[in-house]
Amino acid sequence: MANIGSSRDGFTSKFGVIAAAAGSAIGLGNIWRFPYILGNNGGGAFLLMYLIFIIAFGVPVMTSELLIGRKAQKNVFGAFKSLSPNRPWYLVGTMGVLAAFLILSFYSVVAGWTLEYVYLAITGSLSGTPDDINNIFTSFMGDNFWPYLWTIIFLFMTALIVLGGVKNGIEKYTKILMPLLFVLIVILDIKALTLPGAGKGIEFLFNPDFSKINGSVVLAAMGQAFFSLSIGMGVIATYGSYIPKSQDLGKTAVSVSMTDTLIAVLAGVAIFPAVFAFGMEPGQGTGLVFKVLPNIFNQMTGGFIFSIMFFVLLTIAALTSSISLLEVIVAYLSEEFNMKRKHAIWSTTLVVSFLAVMCVYSDKVFNNFDFFSSSVLLPLGGVLIVLFVGYVMKRSGVKAELESHGKSIAWFNIFYFIVRYIAPVAIMFVFLHGIGLL
Ligand code: TRP
Repeated sequence: MANIGSSRDGFTSKFGVIAAAAGSAIGLGNIWRFPYILGNNGGGAFLLMYLIFIIAFGVPVMTSELLIGRKAQKNVFGAFKSLSPNRPWYLVGTMGVLAAFLILSFYSVVAGWTLEYVYLAITGSLSGTPDDINNIFTSFMGDNFWPYLWTIIFLFMTALIVLGGVKNGIEKYTKILMPLLFVLIVILDIKALTLPGAGKGIEFLFNPDFSKINGSVVLAAMGQAFFSLSIGMGVIATYGSYIPKSQDLGKTAVSVSMTDTLIAVLAGVAIFPAVFAFGMEPGQGTGLVFKVLPNIFNQMTGGFIFSIMFFVLLTIAALTSSISLLEVIVAYLSEEFNMKRKHAIWSTTLVVSFLAVMCVYSDKVFNNFDFFSSSVLLPLGGVLIVLFVGYVMKRSGVKAELESHGKSIAWFNIFYFIVRYIAPVAIMFVFLHGIGLL
């Protein structure tokens, strides 16, 4: 996250802030979580729900977070406290911190798998038949040492970057590396689409089978939309506080959401044709991409180099998300409890290491952390954020902030209507229905 703790000099370019917010949004959520959740939830119908939620809730919630942060010129806690003193709205931030703990825990585990795959790619071990590839993942998961160690190593890498205050430097490289990841995914897409039998995968992804839709599928799609966009925790508010007053927040939210969604869909276009071409199961859970992608690399000229590049870039994408997750907690501890940043970083890393080890040890803990953060905490945070913008802030203030103090925007009434009446009710409905209470 840029410039935290330093003077509020803001981003110098539009691309700068979009790249930084996209760096937080784009990560394992797009390439690992999206395909596995989609595969578990029946394919095309899930994709359709997901896209609807990105547009109907994702963009308005992101716009709301950006505008809260920019109006207050503070992070979430400070923002809620200064925009509504004496009221407990900052609890949204507290929920966000809890979500950050849970997400960082299982996220580090998956990032650990990615590190293992960097190692396997470099040593040329990701070869063989689809069965061999499958066994590589299964036996790694059964190992009692490496899954733990890689997880801890990843958490250390995250802590060291946040500690060194080199986040801005990292973000500079992100602007080059993330487009490179994008290019690699497109190359994977082309290869996957030309595999014999690829058509079935495209059908699975793009031809919705509405009989597959039920409350829990819809909730999973909503959770994935929140998770992937990094919204519902107030993190995006911090980015908002660094955006120049002249920049259009609605456009920013649309650009970040579109970029994030495009990467997820392109990841799906690489994975599902390959799933069917290699006769695999789309609904096999968290290991999906790790079992599928190596098969595509194995069929490509230059697959060896591409696979190394891919897993390295995926690790970097995971890092740019994990540093912003850790930063949420560290900012909270240092600003609300006056803890020294260094102490906050190491104590958080210690606690998260413990939680992450539990996630490695037990699939159940892993899945519960994953579900509770994205399908419960983030949507509830999202509801509170839109209620705050719709009912607590003054309409004129919201309007002025979105009009960037001058340029009139045609969509204000639509936005305001969604934020007041549609989003809170619909998000609550999907949530309650999804957990079986409605
Ligand atoms: N969006 C990130 C991803 O897709 C994960 C994430 C969820 C996140 N919430 C966040 C990252 C908050 C940073 C801050 O991988």
